[in-house]
Amino acid sequence: MIPYDVILKKRNGDSLSKEEIEFFINGFVQGSIPDYQMAAMLMAIYFKGMNDEETAHLTMCKVHTGDIVNLSEIPGVKVDKHSTGGVGDTTTLVLAPLVAAAGIPVAKMSGRGLGHTGGTLDKLESIPGVKVDFSREEFINQVKKIGVAVIGQTGNLVPADKKMYALRDVTATVDSIPLIAASIMSKKIAAGTDAILLDVKVGSGAFIPDPVEARKLAKLMVDIGSRVNRKVTAMLTDMDQPLGSHIGNTLEVKEAIEILRGEHAGTPLFEVSLTLGGYLAYMGGASANPTDGRKLMEKLISDGSGLKKFAQLIEAQGGNPKVTEDVKLMPQAKHEVEILSKKSGFVNSFKTASIGMAALILGAGRLTKDDPIDPSVGLIIKKRIGDQVERGEPIATIYGNDEEKMKQATERFLEAIAINGEKPNVPPLILDTITQDKLTMRL
Ligand code: URA
Ligand code: CA
Repeated sequence: MIPYDVILKKRNGDSLSKEEIEFFINGFVQGSIPDYQMAAMLMAIYFKGMNDEETAHLTMCKVHTGDIVNLSEIPGVKVDKHSTGGVGDTTTLVLAPLVAAAGIPVAKMSGRGLGHTGGTLDKLESIPGVKVDFSREEFINQVKKIGVAVIGQTGNLVPADKKMYALRDVTATVDSIPLIAASIMSKKIAAGTDAILLDVKVGSGAFIPDPVEARKLAKLMVDIGSRVNRKVTAMLTDMDQPLGSHIGNTLEVKEAIEILRGEHAGTPLFEVSLTLGGYLAYMGGASANPTDGRKLMEKLISDGSGLKKFAQLIEAQGGNPKVTEDVKLMPQAKHEVEILSKKSGFVNSFKTASIGMAALILGAGRLTKDDPIDPSVGLIIKKRIGDQVERGEPIATIYGNDEEKMKQATERFLEAIAINGEKPNVPPLILDTITQDKLTMRL
């Protein structure tokens, strides 16, 4: 086989065989296929696409370029949840302890924030003392002992994805549905869990804002799961406005703790967390169906076991578990200022990614991978789409350590919220759930 022929075949719109995909990916990872040929291949895939079978082969081929985490020492069905990323998406911090409290082992590898989206590891590290770098053995032992661990990546998972993503980033080939599906699924499969719940975000703060495209991505990832014998369910959830009202690292931990205490019932973050939790309970075998699973999550909140599990998780990872009783033990910003509405009317829309950027300006996020972050800063939004607002009424509170940055963040926030005279339709929170029920296992 020669690389030229495989590129030509895809450029002409033909499907690649499993052998051709393996030849190309392995050659790229080992260095016999240079960046410029992979760049041409990525652009050919961007324009000509890949069918579901090719995408499944691409996924598994990428998985096998690195380590696959072996969780077999941990008894039980291991479940994982993956969000495609958003603003105020603190569901992992609510769910990891709740699902563990339901007796389902949670061996979770999370990521850091980049651009307008936050990352679970950064949020956890805002708790004094918490560490997220553990060896494989420490990771597995913690899950065996207390049922939950949330750490950064251990081992050399999917090196093909790191190398391909870096090239996609500079060749305008990130936003290709098959390339995204193979990227996400390869990393989730290499992480070694038995069942995967995907939270695919839709709307102005989502990686893929368009609902039609986001649905295609969700279906494709569920289909890949069927083809490679993994249990996968996808939910399409709204990111046309921030999910939680708190944005910023310490603030999001605070909101998660408050939800585990039984506060914020009925809010969007609460609703999405508990619905996802119901599915995780069902997929992990702790309930007969997702509806019972959700009831179980509610019970684990009201009897305090979710919050207790969160304290255990924090302590096991070197942090101060007392933060679950007193959130002020986390870093606090020096200044707190209310943003007042300049108009009367109804909140019609948010430029959600821009809200994430307002938090980034304050210091809560990073533009490049190595930027430092300030855990204490961020904002709490007081209004949602459909809410009525009076001129001069507080619509958000911003928390900062630098007055100039706070000014810029306020401007960014005011640009990102549209208030006018008409009452809008409120977007549905959960748009759809895509399961494998009607798909057969094919590989
Ligand atoms: N997230 C990923 O992990 N991979 C992509 O390609 C896009 C988003
Ligand atoms: Ca299909």
